[in-house]
Formats: sequence, structure tokens, C-alpha cells
Amino acid sequence: MRTRPHVLIIVSSTRPNANGPAIGSWVEAELVARGDVTTAVADLAAVALPLLDEPHHPSKRRYLHDHTHRWSGLVDAADGFVFITPEYNRGMPGSLKNALDYLHEEWRHKPAAFVSYSGGVSGGTRAVEMAKQTMTALAMWPITEMVNIPRIDSHFGPAGFTPPVGAAGALSTMVDSLVAHISATCELRAIA
Ligand SMILES: Cc1cc2nc3c(=O)[nH]c(=O)nc-3n(C[C@H](O)[C@H](O)[C@H](O)COP(=O)(O)O)c2cc1C
Repeated sequence: MRTRPHVLIIVSSTRPNANGPAIGSWVEAELVARGDVTTAVADLAAVALPLLDEPHHPSKRRYLHDHTHRWSGLVDAADGFVFITPEYNRGMPGSLKNALDYLHEEWRHKPAAFVSYSGGVSGGTRAVEMAKQTMTALAMWPITEMVNIPRIDSHFGPAGFTPPVGAAGALSTMVDSLVAHISATCELRAIA
């Protein structure tokens, strides 16, 4: 493993005026301030993957399209992930499922953390549970600690996103756990 693990923040929502990018920026700032990880943001709106259009199973890594090679490179370079995800119709956004389905080995034995949010009271937890089902198939390691923000619109105002009270502490606890899981899974990745 590198001295400082590399954490990719994946912003899942792709619609215009989405809340996701601002939440991703908050997470990025907190990770940069820690200093013990390197980080980058992959905004799925900018990554702009079409619905899966590769003819071969992703485990073969025989990618034909530039967009897949670019996505593969971003995910491959990461030791772990923070997924920023809203809840859409009690599940994860289709963009996130599609982005997961595109790749295989690049996800394998890497831990995943979540900052989820929703318009209602669930805080996006149903999106997280749905994503975990897919991540298990990809041999990812979704961690227990997470940040869930209900009634997300009440945290947006003229100044943009203001995290709820306690969210920074929950994020810090989550990233501590993510870093510990990265250490543990690096060994697994070396032998698997
Ligand atoms: C298609 C759609 C479905 C939604 N479904 C739910 C839902 O099931 N539960 C909920 O609490 N909020 C739901 N919401 C509200 C979103 O979670 C909320 O608007 C959030 O900010 C959307 O994330 P985004 O702004 O990053 O796209 C839904 C919003 C959209 C656009």
C-alpha cells in the first residue's frame, strides 16, 4: 500500500442542479484537511458513462470504449471509496448501479463508505442497502460506519450546503474506519 491511501469520492447523482456535488465537495474538503489520505472526486455526471455498452463481461477487462478505460483508470487507482448517494424511489440511482456494473476487478477487495441523503426521513439508507447488495457481488467491503442525512433540502440555503450538527464527527469516524479497512484489504488484494 502507498504511504497515504487514495480515496475516490464518487458522486452518484447526475441530474442538473443535483445536491450531490455540493455534498461531495464537503467530503473532499474534510478528507483533504485530514492529511492522511489522498483524494479525488469522480462526479458521475462528468464521467458520463452511457448505459453499459461493453460487449464482454467486465471481469475480462477487454474494454472497447474510451469512456470505460477512463472509468477503469479512476477506480483502479483508488484504495477505497466514499459513495455520495441520494435515495431515488427507495433505492440507489440508476447511474450508480450502471457505474458499478461497468467494472469488476477494479472494485475487488476495496472498502466502500457512504454519505447518503434523501428528501424524506430515511437519510438515503435504502439506497445504501441496495448498493451493498451489488457491492457484495463485486467482492467489495462496504463498511458499517456511514453518514446519513435526512431532509436534505433543509441543509441547503443561499450559502449552499451546511452539514447537519454532528455530521462532521460522523464523517471523521467513518473515514477512520475506511482507512483501517483499506489497510486490512490491501493484504487481501496482494494475495487474491
Ligand atoms: C427520481 C427521484 C426519486 C426520489 N425518491 C426519493 C425517495 O424514495 N425517498 C426520499 O426520501 N427522497 C426521494 N427523493 C428526493 C431526493 O432524495 C432528494 O431530492 C435528493 O436531493 C436527490 O439527490 P440529488 O439532488 O443529488 O439528485 C427522490 C428524488 C428524485 C429526483
